[in-house]
Amino acid sequence: MKIFVTGGAGFIGGNFVHWLRATHPEDDVLCYDALTYAGNMETLADLAGDAHFRFVKGDITDAAAVKKAFAEFGPDAVVNFAAESHVDRSITDPGLFLRTNVLGTGVLLDACRACGGVRFHQVSTDEVYGDLPLDRPDLFFTEDTPLHTSSPYSASKAAADLLVQSYWRTYKLPVTISRCSNNYGPWHFPEKLIPLVITRALNDETIPVYGKGENVRDWLFVTDHCRAIDAIVRRGRLGEVYNVGGHAERANIDVVKTVLTALGKPHSLIRFVADRPGHDRRYAIDAGKLQRELGWSPTVRFDEGIAATVRWYLDNEPWWRHIMGGEYQDYYRRMYAGREST
Ligand code: NAD
Ligand code: DAU
Repeated sequence: MKIFVTGGAGFIGGNFVHWLRATHPEDDVLCYDALTYAGNMETLADLAGDAHFRFVKGDITDAAAVKKAFAEFGPDAVVNFAAESHVDRSITDPGLFLRTNVLGTGVLLDACRACGGVRFHQVSTDEVYGDLPLDRPDLFFTEDTPLHTSSPYSASKAAADLLVQSYWRTYKLPVTISRCSNNYGPWHFPEKLIPLVITRALNDETIPVYGKGENVRDWLFVTDHCRAIDAIVRRGRLGEVYNVGGHAERANIDVVKTVLTALGKPHSLIRFVADRPGHDRRYAIDAGKLQRELGWSPTVRFDEGIAATVRWYLDNEPWWRHIMGGEYQDYYRRMYAGREST
């Protein structure tokens, strides 16, 4: 197969590219990525010289550039990871999220149509379902849960999902969608909770926890997500949505304490800070459909995944230290200034 991976210089896309090269060595992979602040060629450095891998720098909202890359590569399938992915940034700059996440997805869908109906997979998120109450542990998101978004990020991802489904219904474009819970693992940009805790703790810096740290996320090690997407792209039913999740629900404060303990750092680094506006309370995924239809289930337990992730950051210090220069420090100051409450 020839697989066109957008956003492959980012966290999950980068892991997916490595997953493909390791598990399907006969496939050709093209990574198409605009290299925004979240894209990083160092993530793909070990693939330089791989005859089955190539990289094209390009924006998914640039229809002419996408058309050219399609014409040169001739993809059998497109897997769309490219997105603005951080909820906090969507609160300060919603327009960018509409442009990349909605318009960019539309450009890719049109390119797939123009090439005779290229197989398209949209990497979506459980955030399109909104949130669940903290006191109802019996409730989970299924594929039939109504879309009910909270942030500009999740609204833009839901809009993209609806567009993808419309291309299936209207044009019979062969599409699938996966909606996954929170990922963690190698090459994760240190604006997201787990890599932020690891990198700040290694610098003996304080750890900002939003609100009281009670919000719950359902954590999945990133290679389990990659395996799910791979199965859906090759064997999923066209037109379908598949939820992906690890049944590893944890309150944020517990995640932070687990990571600090794994690093041998004191919990006294924790600072409770002003909450994220519109902060979703709890995500919890029912991935039963994926399990029943494609035989997928998570393989990495949360404690194993955290240990592996911490080990990776310890072993790959240059990767994250290169990110944490002036631009990152400015971001951190802008996002967290004046929020400390205790
Ligand atoms: P990321 O922010 O780490 O990476 C995004 C990548 O997309 C970067 O390499 C960036 O350069 C690229 N990109 C951004 N705008 C682009 C554009 N206009 N054109 C081309 N490339 C562009 O994101 P991630 O955490 O790896 O998430 C990947 C996808 O998975 C996203 O669609 C996200 O919504 C979804 N998702 C993420 C999680 C999670 O926990 N991180 C969970 C479920 C779903
Ligand atoms: O559920 C899937 C989603 O998971 C993806 O669609 C998003 O792309 C991805 O970023 C992630 O969204 P979250 O908002 O859940 O992830 P984040 O790492 O930003 O935050 C996790 C939780 O930790 C959330 O409840 C907010 C909290 N948090 C986050 C940061 C960055 C803190 O308490 N302090 C922090 O500094």
